Formats: sequence, C-alpha cells, structure tokens
Amino acid sequence: MRSLRLKSASCQIAYWERGRLRIANFLTGRTFSTHPATLDLIRFFFTPRTMRDALVEFRSYSRRSVAMALLQLIDAQLLLEHGSAEWKRDERVCSSWRPWLPEGGFHFMTKDTPYVPRDWPIEKKMQTLPSTRAPPQFKTIRGADTVRLPPHEIAGDTFFETLHARRTHGEFARGEVSLGNISKLLQTTWGVQGYFQSDAFGKLPYKTSPSGGARHPGEVYLMALRVEGLERGMYRYQARDNRLARLPGRATPRMASTYCADQSYPAKAAALFIMTAVFARTMWKYGRARAYRVVLLETGHLCQTFCLCATRLGLAPFSTAALKDSVIEKDLGLDGISESVLYVAGVGLVADHPHERATAEDN
Ligand SMILES: Cc1cc2nc3c(=O)[nH]c(=O)nc-3n(C[C@H](O)[C@H](O)[C@H](O)COP(=O)(O)O)c2cc1C
Repeated sequence: MRSLRLKSASCQIAYWERGRLRIANFLTGRTFSTHPATLDLIRFFFTPRTMRDALVEFRSYSRRSVAMALLQLIDAQLLLEHGSAEWKRDERVCSSWRPWLPEGGFHFMTKDTPYVPRDWPIEKKMQTLPSTRAPPQFKTIRGADTVRLPPHEIAGDTFFETLHARRTHGEFARGEVSLGNISKLLQTTWGVQGYFQSDAFGKLPYKTSPSGGARHPGEVYLMALRVEGLERGMYRYQARDNRLARLPGRATPRMASTYCADQSYPAKAAALFIMTAVFARTMWKYGRARAYRVVLLETGHLCQTFCLCATRLGLAPFSTAALKDSVIEKDLGLDGISESVLYVAGVGLVADHPHERATAEDN
C-alpha cells in the first residue's frame, strides 16, 4: 500500500456547506467533509506519488493523521491508483469534457440517482416531499390589467387537434405496433429531412426539431418488443441512410422496466426509444458549459415531436427521465462519457380501457 502510486482524481469539486468543506468526486458521486488542510494533500498528489512520499512531505503532521487522511481520500475516490481502470475513466472524463468542466460535473453527479419506488404506498411517497405547501401552480401579477383573449377553436384543424390530444400513457393494449409506424416515428423525429450548405461548417443536416448550430448531438436506439415485421431486439437508428442496425443485446419487457428505473408500465409498451447525445458534436463548436443546456433542450424538442407524431398515428406515447443510466449505457456499449443516455420515450397501442392518468400522476 505504501509504495502504491496514487494520483488525485481530476473529477472533483469542493464547496462549503454550513461552514464545512465538502469535496465531491463528481464522476463517482462520492462526497465527504474534510479539513481544509486536506486540500494540500490533494494538490500534492496531482503528480503521481506514493503514501510514503506523502508521509515524508507532510512530516510536520503526525504520521497517523496523514495516514488517516490518505485512507479517507482513497475511500472517497479522490485518490486513485495510478494506471487503474478508475484512473483511466477519470482521465477520459477530464479530457473529453474539459471545455464544459467544472459545470458539466452536474451531468455525472445526477446520473444513477435513486428513485422513490412506485409500489410504495402514497402516504410513504408523500413523506419524501417537503413539509411546506406546494408552490402555486400559476403566477398572478397583482393589480395588472388583463385582456380576455378570443377563444381558440381547434376543431377541424388536425395540427391543433393532435397537440391537444397528446397525453402520457401508462397502459397499452397487447397488440403489436407496425414497422411502418415505428419507421414514421423514427424518420419524423430523428431522420434527416435534407441538407444545407453552410459557409463555415460545410454540409449540415436539418431535421424536424431545431438544433443549436445544426450540430444534432442526438442519437436514438430502438428496443423493439412487439413490432410487427421486426424481430424483437435492440437496434440503432442510422439517420444518415434511414436504416436500423441490429445490436447484439437482448430486448425483454423486464429490461424495459429496469431501464426505466423499475417502473412497471414500460414493460407493456411495444417499443422504447432510448435517446442519447454525442456531446462532442455540440462541444466542438460551443466550448462553454452553457451548451450542455442546449443538448438537454434539444432532447426535449425531439421527445415532444415523438409524442405528437405518435398521437397523430393513433398510438399511445410516454416519456420518462427516471432511468438507470449506467445499466442502459453498459447494455448499449456506450462509455457514458462521450455518449450518454438522457431520456427514454416509448409507444404502444392505445389501451382498450385507458386509465392512463393514474400512472402518470403519481410518478
Ligand atoms: C422530462 C419528463 C420526465 C418524465 N418522467 C416520467 C416518469 O419517470 N414516469 C412517468 O410515469 N411519467 C413521467 N413523465 C410524464 C409526466 O408524468 C406527464 O407528462 C404528466 O403527468 C402530465 O401528463 P400529460 O403528459 O398527459 O400531459 C415525464 C415527463 C417529462 C416531461
């Protein structure tokens, strides 16, 4: 142990919390409180060194206190074994996310968070909420003059009818969704509608959803469970040539539920659309962390397009951000660094007796 070469993790962030210094490894999610003197120890290990080196360097402190601090740092994964798999992963995040760090640490710190189990009784779920009253649903500006708006008649306009008909579904009929409809969903939401020639960036694709700088960082993977005319399995949608590439992984209703943080209803859907982002496409052009917001905003655009398209096709869509990120990424063969899962949408046939509201409302 004493001669093991250790290096400080690059994926770390320090902050004060009620007068106590806290240091977090944002990649592993490990956080701990410590004395500010620990920062010197961390700085010392930005050059790979051994524990023995540290005991010599910090000889003005007792050997025991230095050893204890080192063990704490190793436990918190702020000191990593030089050359280990953890160290390599830390280096990869640091190099590929460099333009967006430290703010981009938010992405990693919020991965794989625990969820309130759906089968908890409502009383127990309510206990997880703050004891204060929920904030008002609508904002009113006291004393402001208001103008009544003319009514908006939507009947007869299929665009507005579709917008108003969209609902999140949590129940699906048993049947299959046709490959034709899956294809329409993929092409309309993620497909390339055409290309335009930009002066500085060459030929860029356009799609139905807007994308900052037309970088289109979004990718989509299809989990086909009950698709008529398509073998059950995992696929990646190739927007460039509008094809599905078969992936080696299996696809089962149980996996659909697991991926969506053990919610039960995704297991009954006909297909899941797993949305990821290749961050470098956006980061290459926009080297400020604010562009991370752009990637998230765009995923929202895509999902809304998907939900509207599914509604128009008479299908039952849903979307969920409660995900087991690392499980999905491992199954899809993604490193979770250069490409990471962000959002999952799904679709099925409309249930014969839809009572979808219940599921959507108590998530
Ligand atoms: C970003 C996002 C995440 C969501 N995550 C979940 C979820 O984890 N589970 C769920 O049942 N519904 C989820 N929903 C669906 C909402 O519960 C649903 O939109 C809400 O109840 C309003 O119903 P509506 O979509 O039919 O208008 C999510 C919606 C959004 C926009």
